[in-house]
Amino acid sequence: MRYLDIDTAPKISRIGLGTWQFGAREWGYGEGYAGQEAKEIVRRAIDLGVTLFDTAEIYGYGRSERILGEALGERRGSVFLATKLFPLLPVAPVVEQRAVASANRLGTHLLDLYQVHQPNPLVRDGTIMRGMSALQRVGLVGEVGVSNYSLQRWQAAEDALGHRVLSNQVRYSLADRSPEEELLPFAAAHDRVVIAYSPLAQGLLSGRYDRTSRPANRVRARNPLFLPENLDRASDLIGVLREVADAHRATPAQIALAWVIRHPAVTAIPGASSVEQMESNAAAADIDLADDEYGALSAAAGWFRPITGRSVVPAMARARLRH
Ligand SMILES: NC(=O)c1ccc[n+]([C@@H]2O[C@H](COP(=O)([O-])OP(=O)(O)OC[C@H]3O[C@@H](n4cnc5c(N)ncnc54)[C@H](OP(=O)(O)O)[C@@H]3O)[C@@H](O)[C@H]2O)c1
Repeated sequence: MRYLDIDTAPKISRIGLGTWQFGAREWGYGEGYAGQEAKEIVRRAIDLGVTLFDTAEIYGYGRSERILGEALGERRGSVFLATKLFPLLPVAPVVEQRAVASANRLGTHLLDLYQVHQPNPLVRDGTIMRGMSALQRVGLVGEVGVSNYSLQRWQAAEDALGHRVLSNQVRYSLADRSPEEELLPFAAAHDRVVIAYSPLAQGLLSGRYDRTSRPANRVRARNPLFLPENLDRASDLIGVLREVADAHRATPAQIALAWVIRHPAVTAIPGASSVEQMESNAAAADIDLADDEYGALSAAAGWFRPITGRSVVPAMARARLRH
């Protein structure tokens, strides 16, 4: 495992573990997964040096936090535990009460990273950050983070807090490179962190799926990347992933992760449907892509133009009917 060069204790692993899948029905992994496999994934991840574990109060309405907390057990102290507040009512007393509830579900006295899940479109961050600041003062929260924030709003959140907002958790993968424009340069220049979510584009970049074999669950039924048209469009990118993977005796998913974390300010938090997937994802931290490989993957990502926006609506409706 490799770690970010940022002053946290413990250090943040370059590959973490996303736990939306734990106990969230929309992934469709079932009770056996939530009751047993999820905990084995966590224990094995710790064995392999993974320190960053990401959850949220809304994942399975608290169930993900509970499963993660139980799985960590006595090894809680060796990980960097991150959860998120959903800012429906972003006033300081509510923020404080919600942090306590998350900590209780996680069975911990310290949230190493407490993130605002998404910007509230109506309320600016001053009130949330007053709550965050109080939580830091009493020692329940270590670092404050945000998620799905623009650079401008990230900086405004820092101004409101009065010191660093360590991280911004955003979608970043070969299928969506928008953080490269502003967030990555800012993070690199100011010792901040971009936490890449959906780094495998929810499994698209594993190369397992095409128009004849599409994943059947609610999350991906709602994700336009899994439309047959877009799976066709992704085939060249998957082809380049396979070529680079062959050269490293790796898998396309591992190469997709190695590409994401090649930037020094990035850590990725792939979810996993099995222990084997998590093991393979953790091993991706040690893959070094050559410049020409990185360039070829970036170029292939540039040519990948999925249909998006309004034009996906009829295609999504057709796909649902066929499903
Ligand atoms: N802040 C936010 O708004 C936000 C939004 C989304 C996610 N997140 C966080 O980010 C985490 C990861 O994102 P995500 O779950 O959306 O997408 P992801 O990590 O890109 O995809 C996860 C899925 O990819 C497949 N997969 C994982 N490892 C694999 C491997 N080695 N080989 C082949 N397939 C593999 C698995 O699905 P199958 O095996 O079923 O194909 C797995 O469930 C979440 O758990 C959550 O913590 C945050």
